[in-house]
Amino acid sequence: MITKICCIGAGYVGGPTMAVIAQKCPNIQVTVVDLNVERIQAWNDDNTNNIPIYEPGLPQIVTEVRGENLFFSTEVDKAIDEAQIIFISVNTPTKTYGKGKGMAADLKYIELCARQIAKVAKSDKIVVEKSTLPVRTAEAIKSILDSTGNGVQFQILSNPEFLAEGTAIEDLLNPDRILIGGDTSVEGQKAIQALVDVYSNWVRPEKILTTNVWSSELSKLTANAFLAQRISSINAMSELCEKTGADVNEVAKAIGMDSRIGPKFLKASVGFGGSCFQKDILNLVYIAKSYGLNEVADYWEQVIIMNEHQKNRFSSNIVKTLYNTVADKKIAFLGWAFKKDTNDTRESAAIFVANDLINEQAKIMVYDPKVSRKKILSDLNYLETRMPEENENSIVTFDNPYLTCEKAHAIAILTEWDEFRKYDWQKIYKSMQKPAFIFDGRNILNKAELEEIGFIYRGIGV
Ligand code: UDX
Ligand code: ADP
Repeated sequence: MITKICCIGAGYVGGPTMAVIAQKCPNIQVTVVDLNVERIQAWNDDNTNNIPIYEPGLPQIVTEVRGENLFFSTEVDKAIDEAQIIFISVNTPTKTYGKGKGMAADLKYIELCARQIAKVAKSDKIVVEKSTLPVRTAEAIKSILDSTGNGVQFQILSNPEFLAEGTAIEDLLNPDRILIGGDTSVEGQKAIQALVDVYSNWVRPEKILTTNVWSSELSKLTANAFLAQRISSINAMSELCEKTGADVNEVAKAIGMDSRIGPKFLKASVGFGGSCFQKDILNLVYIAKSYGLNEVADYWEQVIIMNEHQKNRFSSNIVKTLYNTVADKKIAFLGWAFKKDTNDTRESAAIFVANDLINEQAKIMVYDPKVSRKKILSDLNYLETRMPEENENSIVTFDNPYLTCEKAHAIAILTEWDEFRKYDWQKIYKSMQKPAFIFDGRNILNKAELEEIGFIYRGIGV
């Protein structure tokens, strides 16, 4: 019987996943640990609206189970020692140095976790990879754990997370599937069963799929590559639509009604962002190359190339349309997060579009309902394209969308927040410089209505 679970990493994956496990398994004590003291303090904040991750439905669950059977702590060793199952849910960014720079996943945080577990564990443990990892990482983890020589037995499982941000709680409560990969040995199968039992508290058996470790690891990368590929495919068509007079929304609808294609993930946009798609594809490309599979690598790399093109195309289009110069012009950004209903900005198209426009000496006014100025500046500074002071001077942030757009030469919609649809666009139009342009990077506004008001409207693929 599993009674104690520990999760290393209190991030976008670890936090919500463990909150749901705790809620659905009242007999299991779940402890989420992190080295980041500030982050753990935020998870323990009395007001659950201040927890570090914005995810609809999450504060309610945390209020319900925190202090009962869900705990957030910085005492990593203690939690490892007590747990029967340890989830590793730490970050695996793309490497920024050395071999595989810009392509391979940086596994240093994973390795540190494995070493920590090896050092502390005094009883047998099931170690679960939750972070997205390159194929055969489990082997590396196992080799570190098995070298401790203190007789403790470890079983390594792969249990990738498919939740999407903004709908994490819904995805966790009603998953399309739970994937668990493990060793084919008797011990391996026992470990798989222990984890199946945890999920069976709320997920129907036919939705729980068990495979070998490598299939599970590769399935995660494949799922993200396929999803991203759909977006790059529709974005490629969006450019063709703009040239030919077709409307990409109509094309998406027409093809989506083919049940073999399906309607989801066909929204043309300024480009996909998020912590997973680009990283996972780069990782896939790196793995393919390392096996000498150059055609496979090139095929998937094209998904990223198309996405880069889509972001660049958006910023160049703004410059071109504003009479080939945006120097000293005010461009109002509505949205900075990589998608709606999240405060996550990792790889958000907004960062790259802003960077391009600052290169053209534009002034960027930003409003995002959930993203702070500090985050916006740190996203830009991370690119290291210019001195931080220059970014400070080029970005003005607001907590009111109407003030953001006042005297702006153009508005760019970067995130599809629902509230943007409901604004008083007549009022915004009045306060702007004329001609007033809108570049709708998400195709969420009503073109006909805006043109009626007087805006010059440019969508994606329309
Ligand atoms: C993704 C996967 O969906 C999820 O299964 C995996 O576990 C993690 O990676 P996430 O990055 O949270 O989830 O968001 P997702 O909804 O997939 O969106 C990714 C990006 O694609 C966003 O920038 C979004 O705006 C964009 N997108 C999505 C489009 O541009 N068009 C679409 O049709 C769908
Ligand atoms: P993800 O989106 O995969 O959840 P995040 O970056 O949001 O990634 O969260 C990962 C968390 O893991 C961070 O809060 C980081 O501090 C934590 N972390 C990284 N390495 C360790 C470690 N060795 N021990 C404990 N926590 C760690």
